[in-house]
Amino acid sequence: MKKVITYGTYDLLHHGHVALLKRAKALGDYLIVGVTADGFDKERGKLNVSQSLAERIENVRQTGIADQIIVEEYEGQKISDIEKYGVDIFTVGSDWVGKFDYLSEYCQVVYLPRTRGISSTVLRASAKPVLKLGILGVDSVAERFYTACKAVSGIEAHAVFDADPQRLNKFCRGKSTLERRESAEDIYEGCDAVFINTPANEHYEQIIAAIKAGCHVICNPPIFLSVAQAEECYRLADEAGLELFEGIKTLYFPAFEHMLLLIKSGLIGTVKDIDVSCSQIPEQMEQVSKNKYMGSLYDWGPIALLPIIKMYESQCESSELISFQKEEFSYFTRGFLRYPNATASIRVGKGMKVEGELVITGTKGYLYVPAPWWLTEYFEIRSEDLRQVKKYYFNYEGDGFRYMIYNFLHSIHAPERTSVQHTRQEILRATTLMEKFHKGDCKVLEL
Ligand code: CTP
Repeated sequence: MKKVITYGTYDLLHHGHVALLKRAKALGDYLIVGVTADGFDKERGKLNVSQSLAERIENVRQTGIADQIIVEEYEGQKISDIEKYGVDIFTVGSDWVGKFDYLSEYCQVVYLPRTRGISSTVLRASAKPVLKLGILGVDSVAERFYTACKAVSGIEAHAVFDADPQRLNKFCRGKSTLERRESAEDIYEGCDAVFINTPANEHYEQIIAAIKAGCHVICNPPIFLSVAQAEECYRLADEAGLELFEGIKTLYFPAFEHMLLLIKSGLIGTVKDIDVSCSQIPEQMEQVSKNKYMGSLYDWGPIALLPIIKMYESQCESSELISFQKEEFSYFTRGFLRYPNATASIRVGKGMKVEGELVITGTKGYLYVPAPWWLTEYFEIRSEDLRQVKKYYFNYEGDGFRYMIYNFLHSIHAPERTSVQHTRQEILRATTLMEKFHKGDCKVLEL
């Protein structure tokens, strides 16, 4: 008996899938179909799948073509499946030509013709209107954001504006479909959403303008500089039925999400202390804008506070901040935070460097994320016995922005929130601390 195996996501099953399954079956006597697990798709950066694993398996089952259905859960599983099931032929559609040649060591590899003019991506796009996005403020972050939008179906960068015409020219080069706007007020026209990527002190007015123009907002952190502003913006967004989303990409990395779940499941006991550091010395620091709203705590504060806010559910009881500054620009800030029954400390640098680690200390052990923890793929859970270290690795694709953009879209289309999503209470707790600093409650040392 000749055994054939093929793999796919089989989202919104279409006639291209059915044709491929028939061709695959015709290559032998027994067909095994591997359907990708939700987590596996997420890890390999495929974030647009609209049906659950159970629904997708059911799609394949109903074709009646597969003799056996299995779940593909991890990279490298194909070799083990081929050996485990005694497979003679591995096959997929011609969109994968060359990609699986390495399997020819284990069995015959056949690329079958793909059906033209149909794909799950096309079906998904026609099911939901594409969200047109305006980008307000350009820099390397906007560049990566723009690229990431292409990896998420259902969103399209449509227009852009930056107050600096030179920067704007540079950004627009090679992006022929992007409309260049002449002022910040123009950005909302023809857009359903806006990515606000400007210094923190400009956010409040821009958010209000976006909401008035009927646009959903995704805004770089810190989204707000005062609790009063936050409450007003949320009220306006709610009245208009619009999403107001803080764009902290670290929060949506698969590893960060797993880390939170592991800690919540008690693996290191009760969390008692958190030590977070983040810093960056930009290339050509001398030429970097010394706008005080782009200094160490404005740039890094919300990211450094993220694990603390996520772990501790109460308000901070007291806090102390010390900042090294020159001409009001903060190069480095150290903060100590006291919670009802726990502590935390942060160190953030812009133009000063510190090891960017995260250590979460609990009563049974600690979680360690090596630098740069905010781009986390890997972490360890350690305890007294160093031989007992548990290592965790969760890949992410691209530079991670696509996970955040996907969640932004998801919160517009399906507002019931996922467990990892920043809640308003969490954002307000972080805002309280940012507001304190913003109002000058911080000891300043000369650099
Ligand atoms: N396939 C095909 N013809 C199509 C679409 C898919 O032969 N028009 C094949 C793929 O080559 C693969 C299998 O069907 O072997 C499962 O593909 P999958 O990735 O699930 O479907 P796509 O429609 O390509 O999905 P997407 O648009 O999300 O990439």
